[in-house]
Amino acid sequence: MPKVLVSDPIDQVGIDILSQVATVDVKTTLSPEELIQVLPEYDAIMIRSGTKLTKEAVEAGKNLKIIGRAGVGVDNVDVPTATRMGIVVVNSPEGNTIAAAEHTIAMMMSLSRFIPAANASLKGGKWDRKSFTGVEVYKKTLGILGLGKIGSHVASVAKALGMRIFAYDPFLTTERAEKLGVNLVELEILLREADYITLHLPKTKDTHHLINADRITIMKDGVRIINCARGGIIDEVAIAEAIKSGKVAGIALDVFENEPLEAESGLRELGANVILTPHLGASTEEAQTNVAVDVAEQIRDVLLGLPARSA
Ligand code: NAD
Ligand code: MLT
Repeated sequence: MPKVLVSDPIDQVGIDILSQVATVDVKTTLSPEELIQVLPEYDAIMIRSGTKLTKEAVEAGKNLKIIGRAGVGVDNVDVPTATRMGIVVVNSPEGNTIAAAEHTIAMMMSLSRFIPAANASLKGGKWDRKSFTGVEVYKKTLGILGLGKIGSHVASVAKALGMRIFAYDPFLTTERAEKLGVNLVELEILLREADYITLHLPKTKDTHHLINADRITIMKDGVRIINCARGGIIDEVAIAEAIKSGKVAGIALDVFENEPLEAESGLRELGANVILTPHLGASTEEAQTNVAVDVAEQIRDVLLGLPARSA
């Protein structure tokens, strides 16, 4: 029997599929060193975002045939090294689209109405209504950076909320934007016009610190920013400064430059207008079932000698 290592928490349905064709070891607390030590034993590995498959880790996987990422982003996998070693890398491009888009909308509404802070205040024994006067999203402009699967769903929900949508995506056709009822604009125009900015693009060397001090200067005073895409697209130092100065009225972050977020991160000290969630965008029952089935089936097929779809 081939052996599969599951090194991040994966829905049981995925493990059941893998168990049809392989011996499955679920080890979700391995240190990077322990991972490198055990990897040579395995024919396949299934991960979420917690496991970092660095060059060294991939090279340790001498018997790996396939790496399965139960989610979208493969930025935690050294794909060039895997490709060089003939290891297929697969993901689940659509399984958590709705979950991530809905988390984004929840973040936008929570930012607008101070829901997390008002809840904490009330549970803390207060009845404070004055501190939590919010704003409406109706007739506001939402700027979407990256109009792919998640960005498009966010656009359609935001349109139903009565928002005007601007999008920046250099790889998108005007026809597709028109079909979605979205104004496709240059980045600078979006930054200048948007009341809310939400990020839905991959982290690459081109998108590293795309939102930095210079670009924040261009934005409207009082803009609110949401990042449910990837940490590192926003410069966290610059955004914290912009919150302190009042230039940015609020931020909601699901993803961080370093995950887990360091205990001493200055972001934790900021006030009611800063909402932080621990990479929960894909954490719905439905999405976790979708991605587990999607990726486990691909791993099963490769272990059976059938062709795979690459990430
Ligand atoms: P997608 O590939 O469907 O869409 C990404 C879009 O970004 C594409 O349309 C692409 O053209 C565009 N893009 C690429 N480079 C760009 C640039 N420099 N400027 C502007 N646009 C650019 O991906 P998706 O499924 O919509 O996922 C979007 C992001 O969300 C990814 O980073 C993914 O890893 C992340 N994600 C996070 C969670 C979470 O748990 N928080 C869950 C799912 C996905
Ligand atoms: C993804 O890229 O799919 C998300 O980051 C969700 C996850 O970590 O599984």
